[in-house]
Amino acid sequence: MIETSAQPFAGFPRRDGSRVPYAVFTSQEIYDREQALIFRGPTWSFLGLEAEIPEAGDFKSTYIGDTPVVMTRDEDGALAAWVNRCAHRGAMVCRQARGNAQIHSCVYHQWRYDSRGDLIGVPFLRGVRGQSGMPADFSRAANGLRKLRVDSYGGLVFATFSEATPPLPDYLGPVMRPYVDRIFHKPIEYLGCTRQYSNSNWKLYLENVKDPYHASLLHLFHTTFNIFRVGMKAHCVSDGAMGLHSLILAIKEDQAETAAAYEAQNIRSYDSGFTLADPSILALVPEFDVIATNHIQPIFPQLVIQQIHNSLVARQLLPKGPDAFELVFHFFGYRDDEPELRRLRIKQANLVGPAGYISMEDTEATELVQRGVAADADETSLIDMARDAPDQTDTLITEQLIRAFWSGYRTLMGFDEAGAAAR
Ligand code: FES
Ligand SMILES: [Fe+2]
Repeated sequence: MIETSAQPFAGFPRRDGSRVPYAVFTSQEIYDREQALIFRGPTWSFLGLEAEIPEAGDFKSTYIGDTPVVMTRDEDGALAAWVNRCAHRGAMVCRQARGNAQIHSCVYHQWRYDSRGDLIGVPFLRGVRGQSGMPADFSRAANGLRKLRVDSYGGLVFATFSEATPPLPDYLGPVMRPYVDRIFHKPIEYLGCTRQYSNSNWKLYLENVKDPYHASLLHLFHTTFNIFRVGMKAHCVSDGAMGLHSLILAIKEDQAETAAAYEAQNIRSYDSGFTLADPSILALVPEFDVIATNHIQPIFPQLVIQQIHNSLVARQLLPKGPDAFELVFHFFGYRDDEPELRRLRIKQANLVGPAGYISMEDTEATELVQRGVAADADETSLIDMARDAPDQTDTLITEQLIRAFWSGYRTLMGFDEAGAAAR
């Protein structure tokens, strides 16, 4: 039984994910359980882009959940990933964010590992002058860094701790794969990253990227400049399996028609009086089969694929305790981008990220929730929008993807039997 500081965790009162106990955002015990059952469990966690480590020996240090992990290319160019913790006494071996190295030395006692994580050197292994040294039965082969299963799909690199995790294409599933392919259909080039830190629970961010309802209400920029409005043609789907991955596609339509819905309801985020002195940031160069202004696709647990206009991003979501997470925005283009389109992508990098015109508000909103729920672990949120129309996928006024997510989360966390009602 999970205990919160106030009282035992009573579980989810409904099976459909429409009532979420606030304890899941604040409890250290639930957070620890997530590390074991989700991040070190049967899931594939996004580490980065293959394009970040193009050459043999390239590496990048990152995390799976809160476990430090390094992704590398070995001398043959094959992908590898290992836990960044020395087999000796547990120090982090790699202390750089990224670089190129054939050998990784732990600074504490200089144990040396190759790019695959195999232990290749121990100082004073045989002691000095015939004295001391490691025991005769010490095996270098048995004391490498902990290696993870690693695979890539469309240039996205994932790793998993668990042998039980299905192959990566199956984990993404038949509903999500075509949309991953939509973005990753040709070779990409990594352009750089930004990072932001939020004092709120990581799952509040997953709720946020599964929440088309907020997008046009919280974000003034979205609505005013017709990047995202509720009248737009939409496609909102969860993966057909556990509901943990999802996709929101907002499809470009006539401006006047979508503005009418906001004017009619006098919504704060729509202001027809605003114009931009330089509207070039709003350009939308058609480059995909379906002309979508927004493609937002969280792949559980720590990836969000994003296309907003011509800005392409792989966001990485890293939990940092029950009430904190970090977001890393990996911007990319296609290798065959014309210079003009590449410049536009870089300009549109200002739409999202720590100071982005349309995403500053998201982490402010998740922090408002964190502060709001801190004192009442046993109360629940209310996630009912379009609950009577669970199969409707063409509206942006829905919380169906969030309900599907919580339903899958409950199962993964083994909260199923905890006093849930029938629905
Ligand atoms: S902790 Fe790494 S060499 Fe000692
Ligand atoms: Fe948002």
